[in-house]
Order: sequence, then C-alpha cells, then structure tokens
Amino acid sequence: MTTDPGLHTGSHDLPVSPALDAFMGTGWAPTPIPADQRVAAHHVTPARRARLAAAFPGERLLVPAGQLKVRSNDCDYRFRPHSAYAHLTGLTGEDQAGHVLVLEPDGEAVLYARPRSPRGGADPRHAEFYRDRRYGEFWVGRRPELAETEQLSGIRTVHLDGLAGLLARTGQPTRLLAGVDPQLDAALGRPGGPEDAALAAALSELRLVKDPWEVRQLQLSVDHTTAGFEDVVRALPTALRHGRGERWLEGTFNLRARAEGNGTGFETIVASGAHACVLHWTRNDGPLEGGRLLLLDAGVETDTLYTADITRTLPLGGTFSPVQRDVYQLVLAAQEAAIATLKPGACFRDFHRAAMRVIAEGLAEWGVLRVSAEEALREDSGLYRRYTLCSSGHMLGLDLHDCAKARAGTYLDGVLEEGMVLTVEPGLYLQPDDETLPVELRGIGVRIEDDLVITADGARLMSGALPRTIPDIEEWMGTLMS
Ligand code: GLY
Ligand code: MN
Repeated sequence: MTTDPGLHTGSHDLPVSPALDAFMGTGWAPTPIPADQRVAAHHVTPARRARLAAAFPGERLLVPAGQLKVRSNDCDYRFRPHSAYAHLTGLTGEDQAGHVLVLEPDGEAVLYARPRSPRGGADPRHAEFYRDRRYGEFWVGRRPELAETEQLSGIRTVHLDGLAGLLARTGQPTRLLAGVDPQLDAALGRPGGPEDAALAAALSELRLVKDPWEVRQLQLSVDHTTAGFEDVVRALPTALRHGRGERWLEGTFNLRARAEGNGTGFETIVASGAHACVLHWTRNDGPLEGGRLLLLDAGVETDTLYTADITRTLPLGGTFSPVQRDVYQLVLAAQEAAIATLKPGACFRDFHRAAMRVIAEGLAEWGVLRVSAEEALREDSGLYRRYTLCSSGHMLGLDLHDCAKARAGTYLDGVLEEGMVLTVEPGLYLQPDDETLPVELRGIGVRIEDDLVITADGARLMSGALPRTIPDIEEWMGTLMS
C-alpha cells in the first residue's frame, strides 16, 4: 500500500520545464485550517469505535474508505467513502479516497491517510499539487495535513505509506471489511471468509439503532427532501411541456439535493404513468401526461451522508381520477395499518405483514384476486404479490438500505428498538400488460413511502410535512402550482 509515486497526468497535458517546476515550488503562503475545526460527528465516533473494538478483542480491524473508481478514461466517479468508514471516523469528504481506519488489537484507532500535496523541497511527490489530476491540490482541492486530519477527526493519523509495513507484519489476527478497497483486498489475499463476514455484520449492526445526533441528521435530510418535492411540484407546469418531463423533474430534485447536501442518497426515481410499475425506474426519459400519476421516489443525502427516502404518488393534473383514487386509497390504508404496528418489541416483519393483509383484502374485494385474501396470504401461495412485489420497508441511515449486512436475527427476523429509523413503503404496481387486471387498472403504479423513527412507545413520522391523504395532496399541489 503506497501512494502512487507516478503522477496522474493527461495525454493532453503540456510538458513542464525544470524552470517552471522550480518556480512552482516556492512562494506559497501557509493556509492552515482553523484550530477549532472538527468533523460534525467527532463527539459520537469514539463510542462507536469502542463498541466495535470490544466485539473483537485482541484483533486488528481494517475499515477502508474505498478507492477512486474510473468512470471513463481519465475521469473518476465522484467519491463517497464507505458508510462504515464514515460512521467510525466522521470523515465524509471526497478527499478520503484510499484512506484506511485501523483498530489495533488494544482498541487504539489509527487512520492511514494521504497527506496534503507537498509543495517544493525534496519530496518526490512535490509536483503532485499542480500536475496530478487525481490527487493534486490544484486539480481536486486541498487535503488536510496529517496533523489536521488528526485534529478534525480526533483519530491518530499517520501516512498511508505506512500501511504496507503494518500489513507485512504477520501473526496478528486481522479482519478486513472486504470488497471495498480492491488494493487492500489484493494485499490481504481476500475475498474475505467468515471472519471478514462477521466484521461486516458487526459494522451493520452497530448502525441499527441511531443515536440522537443521527436522528437529527436524518431529520435534516427529510426536511431537505421535503423542499425538493415542493420544487418538483412547482416545476410541473414546465415539465409537462418538456418532451422528457421526467428528466426535467429529476434535475429539479437533484438541484435541491446538491445545493443543500452532498447530493441524492440514491438515483432519483421519476416515473410517470406506467413507468411507476417499474419499481426502480431511474431511466427517467419519459414525457409527462396530464391525466396520469407521477411517482417520485427520492432522498437528499446530507453532507454527513445520511439519506432520506420518500415516495409520493401525485396526479399530474392536480386531481386524482376515480380509479386512481381507489388504488391510492388502498395503498394508503396499507401504509397506515403498517405504521400502526411500529413500536419497540414489535417484529420487523410485522409492519410488512399488516400492509400486505390490507393489500390482499383489497385486491380480493376488487375481484382481482380469484382466491380469498386468506388463501393468497398463505406462505405457500402469496399470489397477491404479483401486484405488489417488493417488501414494505427497510432500515434507513448512512445507506439507503441501511445495515444491509446485519444478521437476520437482528434485522429481518429481529424486533424493533427505540432509535431505529426505517421506511414504510407499500405499493401497488398494476402492470400495463397484465391480462389478469381490468383494463382501467392497467398501468397504474402507486407507492407511498415515509420515514419513521421508533420511539419509546411507538413511532414518529419524520416525513409528515409532505401530505399523504388525497385531499391534502390536491390542496398542496394547487397551492404550489398557483
Ligand atoms: N426508494 C428506493 C428503495 O427503497 O429502494
Ligand atoms: Mn425505500
């Protein structure tokens, strides 16, 4: 593990003369970061690291941020550190690429980081700051000095070049968060086995219950997302006139996400008409049609990397048609039944079951299901699922589908605890080519998704500022579009 001593230059970069190189090495004023600056999560990360270390006493744990990834030729994707790394360090910036958090067997945390680009002097990388397109300060921005990273994070920070030596010293039981940093995987001869899988599970489980600071971050992301939904409704008249109205609305929401936070927490889903029957419609290349529904599923990710995940299904003309009303009301009833189950001690699966019972009963009542709801709900049947397909919610946090490596016993088959944050998002997806459906239902997709935090005796709706009932939605749209 070394920082690449070769410079990342482009084939169209002009050669540099020795005179220019020497000139570039002098005459720069110091620009220290303010001595009181800290990452936003600096006060909560020590306890997280201590809990993790306590789960693996006497072992070395490696949690990488990940590496830059080429998008095309010499352009990289925007870098976002792995959520486990961000959770344990509070470091969330694009400048974290290649960094690795090490928890030593005695529990001490050491951050292996790339220092600020040196300028001038004998350092072999002295030209990096003005010539290197991937890591140079004049190309991608300033990285902190190692001492500054230590100040920001509160974690002892050493040069990334020291990591190779650490890994070469054998005999130390080591677990790696594998599959994140290809260089580290190769250096340790991974893919990981059961030891690494246990670390990945522990990292996920560490995030199942959010602390109050995290809940505030999630509320912030919900609030920004609410503003983004309002922007989308205001933009509807323009988008309706555009040939690719879905894209116009995607851009509208994403502008809000980028302006208020780090960006979107996942690719924004803007699905008009039958596109709403595609669960993750992110092509967003369709036009909008006045009488159809629009499904918007989106979330703003904060600068601290927490994301909201909200879906609203809206009538593009401002009012629901009778058949759209029927479908919407059934999904809303399912969501309300699901939310009513949420409290500490309830099984995670309960809210999904509650939503699916309402959906199955509704479909049976409409005659869409040719068997009784009871029969369709039996595990050896599940016929109602043709029309709803995905599960009704998931943990939410630093990842959209948070805590994904948690063991089933603590998540899918586990019970809810105060401080967990999750989505409740039942839907009906009535495919346009489904011959089992009456013609008037075909091509209608409805999902209603909200974010909730489990409280001492129930759950608090975090996304309640966005209307959910039909009258409230119609009034809200009317106000925003007038
Ligand atoms: N909102 C997108 C998802 O939950 O997958
Ligand atoms: Mn979701």
